[in-house]
Amino acid sequence: MESLELAAITEHNTNARVLSLTSLSLNNFRNYHSARIEINAAPVVLTGRNGAGKTNILEAISLLTPGRGIRRAKLSDIDSQSASGLPWVVAANLYGMQGEVKIGTGRDSQTPDDGTDKRMVKIDGKVIRGQSELARHFAIIWLTPQMEQLFQESASAGRKFIDRLVYSFDPEHASRINEYEYAMRERNRILQSNRADAYWLDALEQTMAETGAAIAQARLHTVEHINHTILRSPLSFPKADIGIAGMVEDLLAKGTAAVAVEEEFKHRLRNARSLDAASGRTLGGVHRSEMNVIHIKKQMPAHLCSTGEQKALLLSIVLAQARAGAQWHRVVPVILLDEVVAHLDATRRLELFEEICQIGAQTWMTGTDSTLFTGLEKKAQYYQVDGGSIIPT
Ligand SMILES: Nc1ncnc2c1ncn2[C@@H]1O[C@H](COP(=O)(O)OP(=O)(O)OP(=O)(O)O)[C@@H](O)[C@H]1O
Ligand SMILES: [Mg+2]
Repeated sequence: MESLELAAITEHNTNARVLSLTSLSLNNFRNYHSARIEINAAPVVLTGRNGAGKTNILEAISLLTPGRGIRRAKLSDIDSQSASGLPWVVAANLYGMQGEVKIGTGRDSQTPDDGTDKRMVKIDGKVIRGQSELARHFAIIWLTPQMEQLFQESASAGRKFIDRLVYSFDPEHASRINEYEYAMRERNRILQSNRADAYWLDALEQTMAETGAAIAQARLHTVEHINHTILRSPLSFPKADIGIAGMVEDLLAKGTAAVAVEEEFKHRLRNARSLDAASGRTLGGVHRSEMNVIHIKKQMPAHLCSTGEQKALLLSIVLAQARAGAQWHRVVPVILLDEVVAHLDATRRLELFEEICQIGAQTWMTGTDSTLFTGLEKKAQYYQVDGGSIIPT
C-alpha cells in the first residue's frame, strides 16, 4: 500500500483523467421515447417539475457502470410503458479511463420473458459478456434521496455503497466480486448436494480466498484514502470516519500479510463446510462485511445522527471520494447528485459548487427550480426537462 504521506505530495496533480460524457441518448427509457443531448465537461444542471424525468436521466447515466443503477430497478420496469414492450437503450460517448469510448446498454431483447432479463452491453459497438468491463472505462459516484436510508438499512446496503466507492479506484474490483460470488454459489450448491467433491471444493475455496483477500484489501485501501481526504478537507460539511468490519478485513487491518490472510480465510472456509452445508449458505467472508460510519465531531454512529446530519455526512463522503480519486488514482469520476442541492442552505450550496468546480468533475445535479443553482450560471450547462424532452436553456 502506498504511503499516504508520500501520495499527499501529489495532491494537486494536474494530470488526473477527468471522466465526462460528451453525448447521451435515451430510447424507450421510462418517460423518454427518444432523447439526445450533447454536453461538455462542465457541471450539468437539470431542472423541471416533479415527475418531469430528471432522475430518469441520472438513472440512465448510472447504467453505464456495472450493476443495477441508482434505482436498482428491474430491467423490464425501465422499458417505456408507452413503447409496448420495446427494450430500453442508453448510449453515450464519453471520455473514459482509457480515452474516448462509446458505451451502449439496454435490456437484451433476446432474453425470454421469464423474469431472467439480461442487460446487453456494447463497448465501441462490440457486444461484451458481463458488465465488469464497464468499470475499466467509466466511473461514477452518486448520491440520491434513497441513499439517505443507507445508515438505517441492512449491512448489505452499506457494503454495496463501499464497493461502489471502490469501483472508481480499482477497476478490477467488480470482476473480483463476480468471481468471488460465483465461486461461493458453486460451493453452496456442492455443499447442498450429496456428492461433495473435496477437490472441487478446495479449488472453489482457493478462489474465494484469493479474490476475498483482494476485495477486502481494496475496500480498506479506498476507505483509508477517503478518510484521509475527509480529515484534510476545508469544507464545513461534517466529517465522517468510515470503517469496514468483516472477517477478512479485520485480519488485514491487524497487519496480517495478505498471503497469510488468504491462507487463514481458506482454512476457515474448509472448517466451516459442515456448518455452511447445514445452513445452506456461506456464513463467513467478505460478502458479510459491514460498514460503520462515525460523525467525528459528535463521536456518534451515523445511524443515530439526525436526517440532516446523515445527508451531510453522505455528501462529505461522496465529495471526498471524488477528490481522493483525482489525487491518488488520477481519475476524476462523474458525479450524480439527485435532489441534493435543495437540502443545503445557501452557504453550503456555494461551498458545494466551488468544490465540484475545483475537483473538475462533470457533476450532474437535479432540482425543481433553477434558482437553487444560483452561483453556477457561468460554470454549468442548464437543461430544462419536461415530458420526455431535454432542452438546453
Ligand atoms: N417505465 C416507465 N415508462 C414510462 N414512464 C415511466 C416509467 N417509469 C417511470 N416513469 C415516469 O417517469 C416520470 C419521471 O420520473 P423521474 O423520477 O425522473 O421524475 P423527476 O423529474 O426526477 O421528479 P421529482 O422532482 O419528483 O424527483 C414519472 O412521472 C414516472 O411515472
Ligand atoms: Mg427525481
